[in-house]
Amino acid sequence: MSIENDLHLISDFDKNYCLQVFAPLPVAFVKGKGSYLYDTDGNKYLDMIGGIAVNSLGHANPKLTGAIARQAKELIHCSNYYYIPQRSELAYRLCRASFADKAFFCNSGAEANEAAIKLARGYFSHKGEDKYEIITAEKSFHGRTYGSMSATGQEKFSKPFNPIVPGFKYVPYNDFDAIKTAVGPKTAAIMLELIQGESGVNPADEEYIKAVKKLCTEKNILLIFDEVQTGIGRTGKMFCYQNYGVAPDIMTLAKGLGGGVPIGAMLCTDEAATGFQVGDHGSTFGGNPLACAAGIAVMEYFGEANLLDNVTLVSGVLFEKLNKLKSKYGCIKTVRGMGLLIGIEFDETVIASGLREELFRAGFLVSAIGRSVIRIAPPLVITKSQAIQFVRALDGLLSTRNGGRPNPFFKAFNNLGRKETPAMKAIVEQKPATEETKPALPAPEDSELD
Ligand SMILES: Cc1ncc(COP(=O)(O)O)c(C=O)c1O
Repeated sequence: MSIENDLHLISDFDKNYCLQVFAPLPVAFVKGKGSYLYDTDGNKYLDMIGGIAVNSLGHANPKLTGAIARQAKELIHCSNYYYIPQRSELAYRLCRASFADKAFFCNSGAEANEAAIKLARGYFSHKGEDKYEIITAEKSFHGRTYGSMSATGQEKFSKPFNPIVPGFKYVPYNDFDAIKTAVGPKTAAIMLELIQGESGVNPADEEYIKAVKKLCTEKNILLIFDEVQTGIGRTGKMFCYQNYGVAPDIMTLAKGLGGGVPIGAMLCTDEAATGFQVGDHGSTFGGNPLACAAGIAVMEYFGEANLLDNVTLVSGVLFEKLNKLKSKYGCIKTVRGMGLLIGIEFDETVIASGLREELFRAGFLVSAIGRSVIRIAPPLVITKSQAIQFVRALDGLLSTRNGGRPNPFFKAFNNLGRKETPAMKAIVEQKPATEETKPALPAPEDSELD
C-alpha cells in the first residue's frame, strides 16, 4: 500500500502528524513536467506559481534532474571542513554574473538574510565602529527566523513572538525622505526588496533606489538587496538590481537558485566580506555538493536555453493580455511587477483567495496575497501559449463574475482528518491494502457544493 495516490490518506496523516501552520488546497501533487503538475488522480494543472518562484527550470527538467542524480551517486555531503568543488564553482559563477566578489551558501532565503544581517553588523564591529542599526521597509518580507522576522516590516509575523531582535527601524517603502530621516549615526545598513513580493508584488521606483544608493555611499552605510524572490532571472535580468543600474554591497538569493533543491546564498563585495572572519559564521549543510550541483545546473541552463529571453518574451505577452483584461473588467485595479513576477490587484468585488480556488478548479495554480492580489510566478520555461491559456481561463472566470466566491468543499475538506486509521498503519507496516484499509471518504467531486 502506498500513500502517494490517495489524497484522503495523505490528508489524514498530515492533519494528525504535521504541525498545522499551512492551509493547503485539497490536492497533492505527485509528478511534474515542464510547467505542469499532476495530482494523485492524474489531473493536470498549469503551474503559474512555480513553488513560489522556486521551480525556475520547471518540473523534472532533465538538465537539473541529471545533475542531481549524477551528484547524488558520487557524493551528497561531506561538510565545510573540506574544500567542495561544486561550492567553489557555483560561487565563481554567481560572482561572475553579478557585482559580487564573494559568496556564502546556506539553505534558505531566511538563512541568507541572517547571514546578510550578521555580516553588516560584523563589518562595523570588526572596524571598531558602533554601528548596528538596520533600516528596512514597511510591508517587507525577509523570512521567519528571528533575525529575518525582526527585519520584516510587518508586525503580524512577529507579534506573538516578541521580543524581536533589537536594532531594526522600519520606514515606508518608496519614500526617500522617510529613509533619509531614519538614518542616524548608528545606521549600519539599509535592507530592501526591489519588488516586495509577499505583500502584493510592489516594485521599487528607480529614482528611489538610486537615491538610497547615493545616501548609503555618502553616509558609509551598507546596502543590502534581498533578491530571494527576484533573483535568478525572475525579472528578465539575472538579478533584479540590474534593472535599476544600482549594485548593492550585499545581496541574498534562494528560491530559484536550486530550481527546487533547497539552497540559499549571500553575495557581497570584498569590502563587505571583511565583516566575517574565520569562525564568525557557518552552516552544516550550506554549500554541500548536491545543492551546489543543482545551482550550477540552473546557472548553466540559463545560457543553454536563452532563459532570460524567454522571461522577457512571455512577460511581455502576460502584461499585454492582462492589461487587456483590466480594460475589459472594472474589477482589475492594477497589473504590476516585472518579468515573471506579476501581481493582479482586484477591487472589493473579488476575494483573491476565492478566485485562487476557482482557478485551481479550472486547472491553474496561483497564489493569493491578502484580500485582493493574485500573484503569478511561473517556471521561467513557461511558453507563450501556456501563458495565453492562463489569461483565457482568468477571462472565463471573470466573465461569469464567479471569481472570489469561496468554495464550501474546501472548508469541508479542511475539517477532515482521522487519527491512526488502519490505512495509516498499513503504510508504515508495509502491508498491502485491504477493504478495511481503503479510504471510505467521498471523492472531492462528490462533495462539491456549488
Ligand atoms: C524577499 C524574500 N526574502 C526572504 C524570504 C524567505 O525565504 P525562505 O522561505 O526560503 O526562508 C522570502 C520568502 O518568500 C522572500 O520572498
